[in-house]
Amino acid sequence: MQNIEDVRKDYVEQIEASETPRELLKAPTLKQLYGVIGTLPPEERGAYGKAINQLKLSLEAAVVTREAALENATIVPIDVTAPWDLNASPIDLLPTEQGTQHPLTRELEVVIDIFTRMGFEAIESRQIDDDYHMFGALNFPENHPARDGYDTFRTEEGYIPPAHTSTMQHRILKEGIEKLEAGGQIAAVSYGRVFRNEDVDATHEHTFYQYEGVFVSKTASLADMLGTLRAFFEAYYGQNLHTKTQPAYFPFVEPGLEFAIEKPAALNGKPGEWLEMLGCGMIHPNVLQAAGIDSNTYRGFAWGGGIERLVMLKYGIEDLRHFESGKLAFLRKFV
Ligand code: DAH
Repeated sequence: MQNIEDVRKDYVEQIEASETPRELLKAPTLKQLYGVIGTLPPEERGAYGKAINQLKLSLEAAVVTREAALENATIVPIDVTAPWDLNASPIDLLPTEQGTQHPLTRELEVVIDIFTRMGFEAIESRQIDDDYHMFGALNFPENHPARDGYDTFRTEEGYIPPAHTSTMQHRILKEGIEKLEAGGQIAAVSYGRVFRNEDVDATHEHTFYQYEGVFVSKTASLADMLGTLRAFFEAYYGQNLHTKTQPAYFPFVEPGLEFAIEKPAALNGKPGEWLEMLGCGMIHPNVLQAAGIDSNTYRGFAWGGGIERLVMLKYGIEDLRHFESGKLAFLRKFV
């Protein structure tokens, strides 16, 4: 019996120090203790068997306690508002050498690269903005139903997580006045994250990315815009494309258009399968005037479209929700 007590103490000590305590229950020594029963005189067998069962129960309890302690030790609370080094231990768990760019970031860089090579300056859009930049400066009258077309979130203070990158137009135009007055032109793309209060499904997300172009000069024309957009799409997909436009209403352009491309055969398209890629048009005189640009002297064009749509066509991705899912199986396809 003394022997059993020694065994118990010894095992409990080992369990309390072990990373895999349950494994210790399978140790041969424990099995051998059962084997001893048969070798004992019958009158001792009952007490011995009871003692062995007690031993088993107390080792089992020790294992459960140890497992709970191990589990608690690995759950390190993350304070998302803390400086990164305070969360250093969970961050250590992520081997940085296995990290890659998110596919949207990578493709956004391709988009920006094409436009900067065409002479456009790239500016990241804001993620919190106000009613004036979201609507007012873009010729949306107060209480106009066109505002309802954007399922806009609002903070309690009345700020807006932008529902489109067009919020940057007014800033780009104002900043560009000097260039115009010096005889130059405004040529900028803004890009970034936008937010809408959408019901999420395979083609709608509450959070997505847009790219927006603004060009102003004394002679900018619709033909210049169509040529610019076509050149962009052909560069992005690396092939010649059929394109078309159809009229559309956006308060900040006149005329306003939707620009579509025919889905190329190389990307599993059938002839006559058109995909609307972005909204565009000639900048409305009220938008130029609001930024202090004389709309009798200068004219401009603008466009805005979704990055996800571009990328989904390029890679045959069928569900928009993959992008924000964080699923490694999806992300690894782009490594
Ligand atoms: N901001 C519009 C949207 O998100 C898209 C758009 C249309 C942008 C026409 C433009 C434009 O710059 O000219 O629905």
